[in-house]
Amino acid sequence: MENRKKGFFITFEGADGCGKTTQSELIKKYLEDTGRKTLWTREPGGAELGKELRKILLHYDGYVAPECEAFLFLADRAQHVETVIKPAVDSGMIVLCDRYTDSTVAYQGYGKGIDITRINYLNDLATGKFYPDLTLVFDVDSEIAQKRVGADKDRMESEGSGFHQKVRYGYLRLAEEYPYRIKIINANNSIEQVFEDTKKAVENFLAV
Ligand SMILES: Nc1ncnc2c1ncn2[C@@H]1O[C@H](COP(=O)(O)OP(=O)(O)OP(=O)(O)O)[C@@H](O)[C@H]1O
Ligand SMILES: [Mg+2]
Repeated sequence: MENRKKGFFITFEGADGCGKTTQSELIKKYLEDTGRKTLWTREPGGAELGKELRKILLHYDGYVAPECEAFLFLADRAQHVETVIKPAVDSGMIVLCDRYTDSTVAYQGYGKGIDITRINYLNDLATGKFYPDLTLVFDVDSEIAQKRVGADKDRMESEGSGFHQKVRYGYLRLAEEYPYRIKIINANNSIEQVFEDTKKAVENFLAV
C-alpha cells in the first residue's frame, strides 16, 4: 500500500481514572522489552508549547466556555501532531498517545454538548486527518473510576459523576461507529488483567 505509515500510531482513551496512563506506560515498557522503538506521549501537553496549554486546561481556576476549552485542546493537538507524533511515526516508531481526538468528541461533544459534526471537522483541521491506527478505550464503571481518581482532582476531573457517565457513553458510541479502529478493554478488572487484555489487543493489531 502506497500511503502506508512507516510506524504505528496507537491511542489510549477513556474517562478519568480508567487506567490510560497506567496501561500506556506498561505497554511502552513491554514493547521496548520486545525490541520495538516506542515513543510515549500525551495530551494535553505532549509538545513543548502545549505544556503551557496543559496548565490552563487542567488548573485554570475559573469558568472556561466549552468552545474555549475545545479550541485550547485542539491548538495543543495541532502542535503535538505536527512536531512530535507525525515525525516519530514517519521515522518508523510505535507512538503511544495518552488521549487524542476521541477525547474531544467524548468530553466536549458528548460531555459538554458541542455538535459532534463540528468537532469532527475541527479534529480533521487540527490533525490534517492524521488519525490513529488503533485506539484502545478503557471502559470503567463511573463509581469505580471516581474512587480511583480520589480526592485530589484537576479541573476536568471535578465535573462529577453525571458528566463521567456522558463521557463514557460517548466513548461507547465512538467504538460502535469505528469498530475497526477502536477496541474496548474492560477496565474494571485488576491492573494485571487489564494489562493482559491490552497486550493482546496491541499484539493482534501489530500481527496483521
Ligand atoms: N485496573 C485497575 N485497578 C485498580 N486501580 C487502578 C487500575 N488501573 C489504574 N488504577 C489506579 O487508578 C488511578 C488512576 O489510574 P490512571 O492514572 O492510569 O488513569 P487515567 O485514565 O490515566 O486517569 P486520568 O484520566 O485522570 O489521567 C491510579 O492511582 C492507578 O494506580
Ligand atoms: Mg492519565
